[in-house]
Amino acid sequence: MSERVVRRNSEVLAQYLDVRGRRVLDAGCGDGNLLVWLVRHGAEAVGLDPEPGRVALAAARLPQAWLVVGRGELLPFARASFDFVIYFNSLHHLRPEAMDQALAEAFRVLRPTGRLAVFEPLAEGAYFEVMLPVEDESRMRAAAYGAILRASEGRFALITEKTYITWQPAQSVDELLADLVRVDPRRAERIQRARADVEERYRRLVERDSNGRLVLSQPMRFDLLAPRAR
Ligand SMILES: C[S@@+](CC[C@H](N)C(=O)[O-])C[C@H]1O[C@@H](n2cnc3c(N)ncnc32)[C@H](O)[C@@H]1O
Repeated sequence: MSERVVRRNSEVLAQYLDVRGRRVLDAGCGDGNLLVWLVRHGAEAVGLDPEPGRVALAAARLPQAWLVVGRGELLPFARASFDFVIYFNSLHHLRPEAMDQALAEAFRVLRPTGRLAVFEPLAEGAYFEVMLPVEDESRMRAAAYGAILRASEGRFALITEKTYITWQPAQSVDELLADLVRVDPRRAERIQRARADVEERYRRLVERDSNGRLVLSQPMRFDLLAPRAR
């Protein structure tokens, strides 16, 4: 793993996605972290997520963005209406049987010159290991990658694929666990049972970055795809 470069997700976004003045769909936008980045970089940003509470949080942070409660597999948008569709840490949260349909929907709403960008955490690394007692996302993440590979042999052509390591802020176990519940409240009960194991793993794997902040490493994969001619 150490041969992988360390990069911020925002660096990878800035290198590969020139979003200024472009219409960008953040599919699975959650609380809107990526939308904040998109708006700051001049995009006409649209966020979509099935969780009304999370969409409301994003809307409160981003009055200038268009926010929609909806699902990636049934996008409420016109054909050829976006320059970018981005799945950021979200494709593996779809039901596996909905993933192919979601990428077909991304194809439908993308302009012919558009791009599909998918950022996914790999099922490895310190952050993954610490969270494992709460939830093993290995199968969901493998299913998401399977859908990307199928898409890149069908409607899309793969432009590039990069893997890199990010440092996930990890000030305390409490904060990490609160984040997990924010994304999926059903995890709360499992967290009670898993807490001691999570704490032991955290103590063993947490590191300090060059600024002295407590962090956990998380390898990521980025896939950039172009729609093939219709
Ligand atoms: C780990 S969160 C990532 C949120 C955000 N992209 C971020 O990085 O902060 C995964 C998100 O996927 C959303 N999600 C779940 N099922 C979805 C679906 N069918 N279509 C679109 N998003 C979905 C969840 O509601 C959640 O907000």
